[in-house]
Amino acid sequence: MNKSESTDSIQMIPNHVAIIMDGNGRWAQKRGLPRLAGHRAGTENLRKIIEECINLDIKHLTIYAFSTENWHRPIEEVSGLMGLLENMLDKELESLDKNGVSIRHLGHSFGIHERLMNKIVDAVNTTRNNSTLVLNVAFNYGGRHELVRAVQNIIDDELSSQEVDEELISNYLDTSGQPDPDLVIRTSGEYRISNFLVWQSAYAEWYFTTKLWPDFNEEELYRALVFFSGRERRFGQISDQIK
Ligand code: FPP
Repeated sequence: MNKSESTDSIQMIPNHVAIIMDGNGRWAQKRGLPRLAGHRAGTENLRKIIEECINLDIKHLTIYAFSTENWHRPIEEVSGLMGLLENMLDKELESLDKNGVSIRHLGHSFGIHERLMNKIVDAVNTTRNNSTLVLNVAFNYGGRHELVRAVQNIIDDELSSQEVDEELISNYLDTSGQPDPDLVIRTSGEYRISNFLVWQSAYAEWYFTTKLWPDFNEEELYRALVFFSGRERRFGQISDQIK
């Protein structure tokens, strides 16, 4: 499916797309390469998908780049992933900024090397006022940990139980002020949420594909968008109510 074949069927562009970029390790293994080569290919692919999201006028893109559980991977892989983010910020920040991308960090700073953390903070500050695409980088992120931090902050702010409602909790999450994802994509044939946006994805449409992340190209993105266009989002209501 190329873009012109799919445009007819892409009738609805989601405002917020979130992606679990899975399968880098298997992609590398299939080629007899080290796992990090898969993450490098995944990073290259990410660059193209960001560009395509801008072309398609998607306004929010959230990527799962490093989970709180990923610390348990071999040390070389952990430091390799840290290095890839640092490299991406060094090399791509200027062009992301020029293209109107606003970078946000979802997750916690604990455990991230100070030099990398400073670059993340710098990227967020530099691109703060951009509005073409908000790119949420979930890095050292876990949905449960995000909720724990939200509850801790609510308690620290001495709010009463009567003040706590869904809107307040949303406002205490790392995605505060942003719309919930409409479409969550997971590559590589795994069918799990894996602690990703557990609160925010309550009403998202989920698209699973067996494609490994480095192979998830623009055409695959159109497929996901065609799938999304065909969904009827009822938010708990019945069909007749939303027509
Ligand atoms: C899961 O694939 C992927 C990750 C844990 C990291 C995702 C990171 C990237 C795509 C690189 C872009 C991110 C940065 C930091 C710039 P996996 O390794 O679990 O694959 P497998 O299940 O095949 O082993």
